[in-house]
Amino acid sequence: MENSVAQVITACVRFAQLISEAQDPEKILRLLADTAVDHLGAQAAMVLEVAEGDGLRVAATRDMPPEACSGQFSTETIGREMELQIHSSCGSRYAEVKTLPLVSSTNLYGVLVLCFREPGGFSDYRPLMARGISDLGAVALDQAFHRRTLERSMAELQSTRELLVRTERLRALGEMSAGIAHDLRNIFNPLSLQIDIVKRLAKNPEKVVELAGQMKQVVKHGVETVERLRLFGHQSREVRTEEVDLNVLVDEAAALCRPRLGEHSRVHLEVMHGGPVRALVRGAEVVTALVNLVVNAQEAMPAEGGTITVRTGTSEHGGWLQVADTGQGMPPEVKQHLFEPFFTTKGDKGTGLGLAMVDTFVRRSGGAITVDSEPGKGTTFTLRFPRA
Ligand SMILES: Nc1ncnc2c1ncn2[C@@H]1O[C@H](COP(=O)(O)OP(=O)(O)OP(=O)(O)O)[C@@H](O)[C@H]1O
Ligand SMILES: [Mg+2]
Repeated sequence: MENSVAQVITACVRFAQLISEAQDPEKILRLLADTAVDHLGAQAAMVLEVAEGDGLRVAATRDMPPEACSGQFSTETIGREMELQIHSSCGSRYAEVKTLPLVSSTNLYGVLVLCFREPGGFSDYRPLMARGISDLGAVALDQAFHRRTLERSMAELQSTRELLVRTERLRALGEMSAGIAHDLRNIFNPLSLQIDIVKRLAKNPEKVVELAGQMKQVVKHGVETVERLRLFGHQSREVRTEEVDLNVLVDEAAALCRPRLGEHSRVHLEVMHGGPVRALVRGAEVVTALVNLVVNAQEAMPAEGGTITVRTGTSEHGGWLQVADTGQGMPPEVKQHLFEPFFTTKGDKGTGLGLAMVDTFVRRSGGAITVDSEPGKGTTFTLRFPRA
């Protein structure tokens, strides 16, 4: 035995170390061929890798004569048959040829081929060490392939995630366009009707002046809506939250809603301030949310009218806002879908985006929205915001 036990053990440990560090299959195969020559005393070695079907292809060689590498190899002949095939293709240059399958759990990855010039070259410690090396190599190959599969799955996951984000963005954009279309239609329809009337009344200057006044009011509404949209665009670009007095925002929203309710309306809008109520929010978003809630309340009123009450107050967690109405209320099946985008009971007149937007904004502010409603009695929406 020309190698001492210590040398063999050192070689095995070194091999185990290198193979566990090797990340890709090509490197592992190369290492197997090299170790066979450097530490197993073989004069030549090669590794055949499993290819399509039951074929094997040369993946790494070390000092192998080219004629030994050019044959057709099959997994079916691993063992004696393949050893004889390689032996004769080398013109009996090697006295002994050995094949060791690379098998881990249930997978066959290939075969390690060792060629010895002297008869009995594959003896002593060598068969045992060769077995150990080919087993370790197979385990390393197993891990490398698993790692590759994992990396591929991760890449797929990442691209699916990107697609989802893109889809979500498109969906948000779609929602916003529907919201814009809804608001602009509400502005242009009455304007177009009034223009028709102006044309008919052109000979009655007093009436024309009166209608022009109404048209101006509609245009003013339009400008306000466009302003709200501008503010909406701002929110999505991460407008910073600021400490604001909810009472001031409630007054702003009421001023925006009053013209819509009309001077002689049967619907009354009451505002009840509860002390100084400070909260950490985006002011423009609160105003838009309140306008949406008040418009919904107005639309839920019966013909005889009713009262919409906007209240503010504080709790231990922060500030709150309430919009309560004495309208028709909601059955459970409506309440259940209330905040879903595009859910509406108003047919063509509604987009079902109002509450979806309010809900999104309240959550983004770290707050919460709740609803209390009873058919025939009315509805109360409560929005809670974190303390400033
Ligand atoms: N105060 C309320 N009283 C009774 N039902 C309400 C009230 N607020 C909302 N709803 C119900 O919730 C549905 C969804 O409201 P949301 O504001 O999201 O959409 P919409 O008002 O139908 O349409 P849009 O706001 O786009 O005009 C309404 O269609 C209505 O059925
Ligand atoms: Mg609405």
